[in-house]
Parts: sequence; C-alpha cells; structure tokens
Amino acid sequence: MSRLLYDESNIPDLKTLTAKCYDDPAVCKAEGDIKRIAVLTSGGDAPGMNAAIRGVVRCGLNAGFEVFGVTRGYHGLWKGEISPIGRRDVSEKLQRGGTFLMTARSKSFTTPEGVMRAAKMLEVYGIDALVVIGGDGSFKGARDLARLGFPVIGIPGTIDNDIASTEYTIGYDTSMNTAMEAIDKLRDTASSHERCSVIEVMGRRAGYIALNVGIATGAECILVPEVPFDFNKDVVRTILDGRNNGKHHYIVIVAEGVGSATEIAAKIEEATGVESRPTILGHLQRGGSPTLRDRTTASRMAIQAVNCLMEKRFNRIIVEQNAVITDIDIEQGLAMEKSIPEQEISDARRLF
Ligand code: F6P
Repeated sequence: MSRLLYDESNIPDLKTLTAKCYDDPAVCKAEGDIKRIAVLTSGGDAPGMNAAIRGVVRCGLNAGFEVFGVTRGYHGLWKGEISPIGRRDVSEKLQRGGTFLMTARSKSFTTPEGVMRAAKMLEVYGIDALVVIGGDGSFKGARDLARLGFPVIGIPGTIDNDIASTEYTIGYDTSMNTAMEAIDKLRDTASSHERCSVIEVMGRRAGYIALNVGIATGAECILVPEVPFDFNKDVVRTILDGRNNGKHHYIVIVAEGVGSATEIAAKIEEATGVESRPTILGHLQRGGSPTLRDRTTASRMAIQAVNCLMEKRFNRIIVEQNAVITDIDIEQGLAMEKSIPEQEISDARRLF
C-alpha cells in the first residue's frame, strides 16, 4: 500500500498542510488494509511505557498485524532502526521502568526533510501505521507524519500529565509515588534538624506533580506555575506563622516551572532565619517499576490504539476522559489547552 502524499522532490512546508489533508479520502493513502504496524517511544521516558509497548505488540499480534519496533524514537525512525518484534520480546517487560525500545529527543525529525525521510523509512519497511508513545512534542511529530498521509496513533506517556486532551498520562502515578517517598524521607531529616526542606519536582511547565505530591506529603507551601504567588505573603509569612504556632520544620514543594529550589531555599533562609536546604529530585522521578495504575492504564490505552487500527480510525490520540479510555482526533487534541482546575487549588489551600 503506497501511502505518502509527497516525494522528496516535492517536500511540503509542514505548517501549510492542514488537518483536511488526511480527512480527505482523495489524499488519504490509508484506504488499503493495515497489515504491518510499528511502535516507538519518544521524548522523556515514563514508567509504564514498557507496558504500553507490550500491549500494542501482544494485542496487535492477536489482531493479526505484523508488529515492528522502532528503537530510539524518531531519531531511530529517521535512521531506519526498525525490526520485527514478537510476543516473547515483550516478556518480563511489564514491570520494568524506562522503555526497552529506548527513546530520544530528536532534532533531525523537526524539519520537513526529516519528517519526509522518516516517512520514507516506514515505506521502505512496508509499515502501514505507526503508534507513538510519548508527550505533546512526540504527538506533534506524529501529526506531521499524518499530514503527509501516513496513519498514526498517539498514546500519552509522560510523567508530567500535561497533555491537554487526556486526564491521565502514563507514568504520572509512579513519578508522584516516587517523589512522595523521597519527600517523606526528607521530612525525617528536616524535622531532626528543625530545617526547611525545599524540594524541586519535575513537570516541565505544569504543576500537576507538585500539587498532588504537596498534598500527599502535607507540605507547608506548594509553588506551581499555574498560580502566581507573593513570596513574602505566601512563603515567608506561612513559615513564620507556622513557627509561631509551634512548628519546627517545613516542607516547601517547588514545581520546576516556577524556578530553582536552590534560589528559593536561600531566599527563605535569608528572610526567615530558618536553616533551609534545597533538594532537586530530578530524573529519579522518571525511573522505577510502574505502579498498578500505570501498568493498567498503559495496557488499556494500548488496546484502544489497536482498536483504532482495526477499525481504521487513524490519526487519533488515546485519551482518558471522565475515567473512560477513548480516542480523539490528533489535530483537535493538540489544539486543546489544560490547566489545574481552580477547585483543586482552593481545596489544597484548605489543608494548610
Ligand atoms: O517531560 C518529562 C520531563 O521529565 C520533564 O518533567 C522535565 O522537564 C524534562 O522531561 C527533562 O528532560 P530531559 O530528560 O531531557 O532532561
């Protein structure tokens, strides 16, 4: 089945292609049967990605597809690192963190020429559709392939939970549990030394991890990019009020999108006189065996991805909406915006 809309002599400017491109049967090249599918992981790894790959492979094989794995994300695709993947290749992977297909943040894929080359690689291997497990950036890459006429499906995998179209992204629960356990330990030492522990958590530009981990660890202050704060009123005053009420140690959670824990700890110590120590949890939050929530969600999202392929519903993102796993159009999903609901923020304030 030939599926590309363009060849190298006529590489389009990806921005000028619209969603209409693949909706139009005259230009969509996916009229034929889907026989061969490929799966890749892209962007930052997230616990549960292996469960999602396993789901796509097992469920895809059960549906009668030949399944291929692409190593190193779009970079590997661009280089043609594509090979068949079987039932046994995904044994013993479900419980492992990271992604055994490996991942990358590909610069080579961000140009029209790069996308065209990746699409050509898929054609060389006779792949009919691609499943991309990753975050928003990875979905933009998938969308670019879709605009060239290549059928894609996106499965949301990122610890940040910052994909607008879905309530949940694979890896989010595990990373929050990892952060929570680390912060419980930091509380022990902060309490022994009567210190303020300032902990920076990941999340890129979003504060979902920070907010929930802050609630779960009983933090005195939670700083997230979505909510502007007044340092004197919301941080210094909170710590001083706590001290005047008999508190001896303090936990301050800082989402990485707000700023540096090191700088904030120094400012707190200067303003309050309370000895303060910064901790940046960093990539620790991306590792570890996935929780039940991540394993089951990843497996169910993989099943839904294969459902889309079987039903020839292409260019979809698998999402969780109102706790139900379903799928939406990739262009529509990428156009959506998401922020922490006001209610969740005001609820968190009531716990201090
Ligand atoms: O998107 C996942 C994430 O871990 C973010 O929370 C963080 O900002 C970023 O990736 C770190 O990226 P890298 O692994 O490239 O340092």
